[in-house]
Amino acid sequence: MKILAIESTCDETSASVVKDGREVLSNEIVSQIDIHTKFGGVVPEIASRNHLLKISEVVDRALDNASLLLDDIDKIAVSKGPGLVGALLVGINYAKALSYATGKKLIAVNHLAGHICSPFLTYKELQPPFLCLIVSGGHSYIIEYKKGNKLNILGKTRDDALGEAYDKVARTIGFDYPGGAKIDRAAKLGDSSSIDFPRVFLEKDSFDFSFSGIKSSVMNYVNSKRQKNEEINPNDISASFQEAVLEVVEKKTFDAASKYSHNKIVVVGGVSANSRLREIFIKRGEKEQKEIYFPELKYCTDNAAMIASAAYYLPSKTENYLSLNAYPSLGLDLN
Ligand code: KG4
Ligand code: ZN
Repeated sequence: MKILAIESTCDETSASVVKDGREVLSNEIVSQIDIHTKFGGVVPEIASRNHLLKISEVVDRALDNASLLLDDIDKIAVSKGPGLVGALLVGINYAKALSYATGKKLIAVNHLAGHICSPFLTYKELQPPFLCLIVSGGHSYIIEYKKGNKLNILGKTRDDALGEAYDKVARTIGFDYPGGAKIDRAAKLGDSSSIDFPRVFLEKDSFDFSFSGIKSSVMNYVNSKRQKNEEINPNDISASFQEAVLEVVEKKTFDAASKYSHNKIVVVGGVSANSRLREIFIKRGEKEQKEIYFPELKYCTDNAAMIASAAYYLPSKTENYLSLNAYPSLGLDLN
């Protein structure tokens, strides 16, 4: 089964052909990061316009690089949300038109289901059940991926997503958007015990997260330093912030794995690219004899290959393709 998938939820225009949910035949990504960096974040209208400019070319390249024609494709897939409404509509309408013109079935996909399936592209042998931590720019969840491709949500963020907290802290200390990877690099040069930022665990036994408090603590710390005309050290702030949030993420994920008896832990979403997070999880995994899986770096951030995989394993139950709409605030509970 060869699926051609389209992804346009935020600032990456991507198209990919994947065979049987695991074998990537092509994965084309055009990133708009350079365009949005000068505005300090993604500007929705500019994102939609740039998706429109690039989508035909990206889809054509995905077919060419897979050495396939549209006729060779079995089904078409597209992210239906969550994301920016204008950006989503570009991908959705392009996919609908392709589907209408060729008569091939259109599969709608929850973008978060795409992140969840991203490790399948690398680990051909990985099978459920497993525990999955999703840490992206807009969402944070701990879920169970059960046999039979069923998801069970154990916890989610009550305010900011982890990637959002990274990006906001990065902006506060003067790094360009998106700042997550810059904090990752700066933290390696800093002292993680230099500033005592709060660890927010919420109620005992809760697998929910809250990252807005630590974001405010970093802002307060920086403002009070500036008021006193004291220098801030971005490396120390990065290291201390990162250590605090990752301590919470580690504890909740491994507690959930023990409570629900999972010996496989999968970490996905943009922040799964973080080198310190990987180090902490691998070390703890060795200690507790749990298998830890991360997507390859190219599949951590947004891409259409993961959407094609999710179309195979976790397709959205959706309405007739011609009435398919965009769902900007879709969560995982409504796949
Ligand atoms: O999954 P993603 O591409 O987009 C969403 O679906 O939201 O995630 C983007 C997020 C951004 O917040 C970005 O700063 C963060 O992932 N990110 C990182 C790293 N690389 C990307 N955060 C921490 N460390 C990294 N190395
Ligand atoms: Zn994403």
